[in-house]
Amino acid sequence: MAGAVLMVSGSKGGVGKSTVCMSLVHYEQKRGRDLLLIEADTANPDVGKVYGKSIETLYLNLDEKEGWMDLANRLAEQPEKTAIINTPARSGEGVKLYGTLLSESLEELHRELVTLWIINSQRDSLQLLKEYLDCMPVGTTHVLRNLYHGPERKFELYNGSKIRETIEVKGKTLNFPDVADRISDQLHSDRSTIEAVIANAPLGNRAEVNRWVKECATVFEQVAP
Ligand SMILES: Nc1ncnc2c1ncn2[C@@H]1O[C@H](COP(=O)(O)OP(=O)(O)OP(=O)(O)O)[C@@H](O)[C@H]1O
Ligand SMILES: [Mg+2]
Repeated sequence: MAGAVLMVSGSKGGVGKSTVCMSLVHYEQKRGRDLLLIEADTANPDVGKVYGKSIETLYLNLDEKEGWMDLANRLAEQPEKTAIINTPARSGEGVKLYGTLLSESLEELHRELVTLWIINSQRDSLQLLKEYLDCMPVGTTHVLRNLYHGPERKFELYNGSKIRETIEVKGKTLNFPDVADRISDQLHSDRSTIEAVIANAPLGNRAEVNRWVKECATVFEQVAP
């Protein structure tokens, strides 16, 4: 069966796309999936820096048409791999201009697109999501409230929104767990993989990563095909 294409997006800067993407890579690795990582953040390819050595990684610029063409070509060449895409902030413009290159290719390849849309509690997260849904009608989009930005009730703009109803016709709304700063620093500053953090951490830190990884898994098992 052809592998799914998992796109981690959110368009906004700093909402937690890379953090979600790293934990998704870890989750898919642990369940034995053969992965292709697509690092589309040309300015700060942080997921590529962490996982590029251990996982086959393609660096693409999805602001340009060529990037989308290369993405479709690669998905066609490696149908068995589960593809995980880390997108940069402000990726909406590229999707608007060239997203059909992907949606049409996926239909032809019979590969499923799952988008994880990461939000913080601010309004522009929702506007960008609306724009994304308009130009990427294929696949399923799930919204992840990143609890790093506060508890579930702080997401009141999303919680009571029309766009939430639209999402939940096909997709889900889930909470992505917060992890202690010292752990996320190891991913973002030391460029350690989650596995390396677990292997090298002292007991208390390890307990925290293990808790987080487990909570992430309960989120991902609801959305990953
Ligand atoms: N769930 C979380 N737990 C702990 N820290 C988090 C979490 N989500 C995000 N952060 C923190 O917020 C910062 C920004 O997160 P991240 O780099 O994942 O966001 P991004 O959306 O990928 O940003 P960019 O738009 O710059 O690519 C990180 O340095 C991390 O420390
Ligand atoms: Mg990022």
